[in-house]
Amino acid sequence: MTQVGPGTPMGELLRRYWHPFAAISEVDEAGIKPVRLLGENLVAFRAKNGAYGLIDRQCPHRRADMLHGIIEDDGVRCSYHGWCFATSGQCLEQPFEDVANPGARFRDKIQTKAYPVEAKAGMLWAYLGPQPAPLVPNWEPFTWENGFQQIVFADIPCNWFQCQENSCDPVHFEWMHRNWSSVLGGDGRYGPTHLELSFEEFEFGHIYRRVREDTDKDNPHWTIGATALWPNAFFLGDHIEWRVPVDDENTLSITWMFHRVPSNREPFVQPRIPWWKGPVKDEFGNWITSHVMNQDIVAWVGQGTIADRTQEHLGRSDLGIVMMRRAFEKAMKIVESGEGDPMGLIRDPQRNTCIEMPIKHRELFTTSMTLEESRRLGDSIQYRLNRPDYQHQVGQPDEVKREYQIAMGMIPEDATETI
Ligand code: FES
Ligand SMILES: [Fe+2]
Repeated sequence: MTQVGPGTPMGELLRRYWHPFAAISEVDEAGIKPVRLLGENLVAFRAKNGAYGLIDRQCPHRRADMLHGIIEDDGVRCSYHGWCFATSGQCLEQPFEDVANPGARFRDKIQTKAYPVEAKAGMLWAYLGPQPAPLVPNWEPFTWENGFQQIVFADIPCNWFQCQENSCDPVHFEWMHRNWSSVLGGDGRYGPTHLELSFEEFEFGHIYRRVREDTDKDNPHWTIGATALWPNAFFLGDHIEWRVPVDDENTLSITWMFHRVPSNREPFVQPRIPWWKGPVKDEFGNWITSHVMNQDIVAWVGQGTIADRTQEHLGRSDLGIVMMRRAFEKAMKIVESGEGDPMGLIRDPQRNTCIEMPIKHRELFTTSMTLEESRRLGDSIQYRLNRPDYQHQVGQPDEVKREYQIAMGMIPEDATETI
């Protein structure tokens, strides 16, 4: 059920949705970059006229690698014999054929595989499914202003579905992120235990709610909950994590992260949203366990390249995962039957102006406050907010850290050192 190649039930379902696959700044810098998505080998590029393309990695002439292509005004040219392709995949020029046999207009008959690309929230998104394509969802945080955004990647050598199951797995917070962290590098004391969970499906995925021994049903952990965003993301308000299927055995983790700048830095407009890729292993080849996201990655990879679900023993903590698996079964049947849309597609532009979501402590990201006020408020709900270091994943490069700290007013504009 977790295989994603063309023609597989899950692959066909996932092709009904837009998937982020790169940062805009990444493709702008590289000009052209290899992309493997849903088991297909592609290249993404930015033509000189600013249009983005995502086409077959192999040239349709004699299969040269388009990664070595030459960027042109309105497309990319294969560096082997010069055939040039538009972002639509249409062949625009065949230098020798156009001279030797212009009347044949051979180029008009050649089309390479090409998928639509859209730019949103600092990322490039691809749609590999049948037309008409739905809209790239305009999730509420994408509409927030005065934020420092960054795009964070990790290459994860396992199937995407066990990563996504983690989006609906509240008890792992207590053990993996609290208790295990405490054993690894803290005082070894365990945190508050979970007492009650609830799971429900909504239009855009699955929401889980929880009560720990230190919280009650008036707490946002219960009243608002957290969202496993359909089909392959974890929605946490100020950040969204996608588990993008590269192929059956590899996943690209993409995090979109938003930090509200303090009031003395407003109005803040980010000219370019930076990106970086964090390592998953240290220099000795050991898995990194220091940060929340890295701990998750260790869990996912540890389940096996493709987790063997025949060997599982599911309990009450796994009701959300059961609910999610059933939802995928149902959605795959809808796509197979050819009758109607599977859940969560957005086709109405009016609706897509802003897709409001359940967000704990929205005021932290939408209200003007000083750095100290935001940290105090964060601390009061046990959320270490707006600190100098990137909290979720290891490996933030110094230049991104510097950009962030300047944006947040932590260091002056001309600072060369970070704190
Ligand atoms: S292989 Fe690309 S132009 Fe010949
Ligand atoms: Fe986690």
